[in-house]
Amino acid sequence: MTEPLLSLENVSVRFPIGRRRHVTAVDGVSLELREGETLGLIGESGSGKSTVARAAMGLAPIAEGTVRWRGKDVSTFNAKERRAFSEAVQMVFQDPHSALDPRRTILQSVREPLDVMGRGNKKDRREVAAKALEDVGLATQMLSRYPHQLSGGQKQRANIARALVTNPKVLVCDESVAALDVALQAEILNLLQDLKAEYDLTILFISHDLSVVSYLADRISVMYLGNIVENATTESLVEQSLHPYSEALLSAQPLVHDSSEGRRIVLKGDIPSPVSPPPGCRFNTRCQFAQEGCREVKPDLVEVLPGHASACLRVDELYADRLGRTVAS
Ligand SMILES: Nc1ncnc2c1ncn2[C@@H]1O[C@H](COP(=O)(O)OP(=O)(O)O)[C@@H](O)[C@H]1O
Ligand code: SF4
Ligand SMILES: [Mg+2]
Repeated sequence: MTEPLLSLENVSVRFPIGRRRHVTAVDGVSLELREGETLGLIGESGSGKSTVARAAMGLAPIAEGTVRWRGKDVSTFNAKERRAFSEAVQMVFQDPHSALDPRRTILQSVREPLDVMGRGNKKDRREVAAKALEDVGLATQMLSRYPHQLSGGQKQRANIARALVTNPKVLVCDESVAALDVALQAEILNLLQDLKAEYDLTILFISHDLSVVSYLADRISVMYLGNIVENATTESLVEQSLHPYSEALLSAQPLVHDSSEGRRIVLKGDIPSPVSPPPGCRFNTRCQFAQEGCREVKPDLVEVLPGHASACLRVDELYADRLGRTVAS
């Protein structure tokens, strides 16, 4: 197995709200991004995905735990290491407008990270930016246009080009196709797949949409209320999920082929506030299999099949068939 490029070890991120209270947006999350893979991160809005993305880029206030880049704790980086790290890990945001300055041409916006870094001369930087724009499929005549002259899909291509100019190792895509219609989503997903090979990228792909994530990801981590509740290869997660929350997400997604064997799980209510999360298993207020113990004990994320981990107290009993176990009654 390859050494992880980027890893989070037991990372918690808290934000102060008001004078005395805080919200734990990410609560003891561990994940490993291995070189060359696409890791999907999925969960409802508010589950902490964007905060994980920011933590992975060294941009979130880490209350506990460690973020490592190539094995080294990023909080110990000197200025030079920090700069190399921020060039190596680039983000593609949800909003296609976000990274494009309305007063600058597309070429200027895409060139900007290189200008900031002061890499090469102006001509070199222009060439690198133009090459990136070509690689994302924007024609030469687009280079001198302004953002308002581009469609949503073209803007998102320009954003991707902007993330590529520093020649990153890792692309963090946070809801990068969420603002696009389904046909454009497929185009951008295919583009990312091509760029991954061409630029030798490792991708952390974040979305609330399992069909989008399962299209690209080799492995998937499922988040709920600041915790990772299931971790598996995409195939294993889709074919034999071992967590009631993931199953609910799967059964709500018509594009993913049905693995629920007719068992349709409907989520009750909204995700609770992470300001005062439920005790025990955080999913217990919405889980149809919740029992008394689920309100008392917080389940650990345990590897129950090779490479497949679940955080559910009742995993052995609920998924005995998938685990090939017999349950004592
Ligand atoms: N800067 C912040 N200040 C206060 N609360 C925040 C901040 N960023 C995120 N949160 C809270 O943390 C939780 C997780 O947010 P986020 O990471 O954006 O989730 P997701 O991306 O899965 O929707 C939410 O309840 C959100 O309101
Ligand atoms: S621990 Fe209990 S509440 Fe949590 S997912 Fe498992 S059965 Fe549901
Ligand atoms: Mg988000």
